[in-house]
Amino acid sequence: MERKNIRIAVIGVGNCASSLIQGIHYYRDRGAEECIGLLNYEIGGYQPGDIEVVAAFDIDKRKVGVDVNEAVFALPNCTTVFCGDLPASGVKVSMGKVLDGYSEHMANFGDDRTFLLSSEAEPSQADVVDQLKKAGVDVLMNYLPVGSQKATEFYAECALEAGCAFVNNIPVFIASNPEWAQRFEARHIPIIGDDIKAQLGATIVHRTLGNLFKKRGVKLERTYQLNTGGNTDFLNMLNRERLASKKESKTEAVQAAIPQRLEAENIHVGPSDYVPWQNDNKVCFIRMEGKLFGDVAMNLELRLSVEDSPNSAGVAIDTIRCAKVALERNMGGIIEIPSAFFCKHPPRQIPDDESYATLMEEWV
Ligand SMILES: NC(=O)c1ccc[n+]([C@@H]2O[C@H](COP(=O)([O-])OP(=O)(O)OC[C@H]3O[C@@H](n4cnc5c(N)ncnc54)[C@H](O)[C@@H]3O)[C@@H](O)[C@H]2O)c1
Repeated sequence: MERKNIRIAVIGVGNCASSLIQGIHYYRDRGAEECIGLLNYEIGGYQPGDIEVVAAFDIDKRKVGVDVNEAVFALPNCTTVFCGDLPASGVKVSMGKVLDGYSEHMANFGDDRTFLLSSEAEPSQADVVDQLKKAGVDVLMNYLPVGSQKATEFYAECALEAGCAFVNNIPVFIASNPEWAQRFEARHIPIIGDDIKAQLGATIVHRTLGNLFKKRGVKLERTYQLNTGGNTDFLNMLNRERLASKKESKTEAVQAAIPQRLEAENIHVGPSDYVPWQNDNKVCFIRMEGKLFGDVAMNLELRLSVEDSPNSAGVAIDTIRCAKVALERNMGGIIEIPSAFFCKHPPRQIPDDESYATLMEEWV
């Protein structure tokens, strides 16, 4: 019997999209028992290999006009290749609308490390909507660089017009902005967001430890989470002006998991520096200081090393399937449980254990 598929479009064919697309092919021919690294093999009857990329947008001249399955390996992408043998997809990467997707400081770095703007004509909103409709896109995945406020709003508008579910993987607030959420609600179009929470990344580890302190009666007094990496995501975030929403999203994700909010000066969470040779390897340093029995001080230090983009793709593969299930269930507006479990900055923070239990009961 032929399997039903999920038709997606990606905005930004960077490292995260690369891992996602490699993963779709990697898991396509593997049975449930052979599948290492998935949270869920099936959601709503859909397996990872049922996802099909039917449209893609980028602004880099090494990617625009190229088959998407080839573009995922183009520079400056630098993530681990775990499935390098992708067949041609027949889908060429289309020129996107640049807006604030490109930060001026990116011009100060070598071609291999930075974005190189394509000279192709930019599309209008009507062009993108038309393309999404013609390609029959179910789910639009936003993978723009941090700080792309205008560009994200442009593509969110396109999703509304074309009637595609929107998954906002980045820390520009759309699902968690009441006005935008209301617009998705009014059009009855599902939205999952904001800012994807990686499979086993700094956020979920920090939240889990915060919860552990709470359960064990230890008062958390101070904490930091410092992150370094060498991909274009970290390079882009060297422009500190673009960083505000990322810091807010990451900090709130931790604040929400501890019993008493910490004063701003006692919590520091964010991307910290760009170390080129790390490429897509992200290293996170967490320190937590607290008081246990008898008001006696303790502290904990942890170092986590992960490949950044497969870590996000492990979650994206589930958000896409939840978005498709939401469409099938005729749901519109904020899709609450997947947003809370899979994102750092959902409209409503829900403890991970609670959102996980509901996800497994109602979605998987
Ligand atoms: N890796 C993770 O675990 C993780 C977690 C949470 C959020 N994110 C976010 O996901 C986003 C994508 O991350 P990434 O590592 O793939 O970044 P990346 O820099 O590798 O990819 C971004 C891509 O967007 C393209 N682009 C820039 N402006 C564009 C525009 N206007 N239209 C279309 N394409 C445009 C770039 O050319 C590039 O290919 C980032 O915002 C990142 O912060 C990643």
